Amino acid sequence: MSFNATHRFATLLPLGLVIALVGCGPSPSTNTTATTETASAAPSSRSLMPSDPALKSLYIQSCYGCHSTGVASAPRSGNQADWAPRLQKGMDVLLSNTINGLNSMPPKGMCMGCSEEDFRNLIVFLSGQSE
Ligand code: HEC
Repeated sequence: MSFNATHRFATLLPLGLVIALVGCGPSPSTNTTATTETASAAPSSRSLMPSDPALKSLYIQSCYGCHSTGVASAPRSGNQADWAPRLQKGMDVLLSNTINGLNSMPPKGMCMGCSEEDFRNLIVFLSGQSE
């Protein structure tokens, strides 16, 4: 009895795996609406992107690697709790810390081509102040 049950489970297991894998398969495009809705309900630092295309590419090239995941305790993009204490320093201090670096935060956030205006816009975006 118990042997049979175990045996049946063992044969069903690979089938279940196949179904699970296929279930993850569908292209992301079918999920776009759902993802956007989730993002607006609770912004996810990983999927959050600046709406301006130029800023978006600077963000992806330079800041995204650390600030989307919070690596080395970088404040996560759009995360109010992470940014609240930093915003209290004021934009001028945040800007100068971005340009000069701060602990594990590299000078200029590794964006050597970014202008001061770019940094301001990136900080506004990162700290969730845009839109
Ligand atoms: C190599 C990882 C890394 C990259 C790349 C990076 N950051 Fe950071 N950033 C950090 C870390 C870590 C901190 C937290 C530093 C601390 O408070 O010790 C931080 C903090 C900050 C702060 C808050 C500074 C403060 O005074 O509290 C700002 C603003 C910031 N980053 C902007 C940016 C921008 C803009 C970019 C892209 C141009 C960028 N960062 C790229 C790791 C990174």
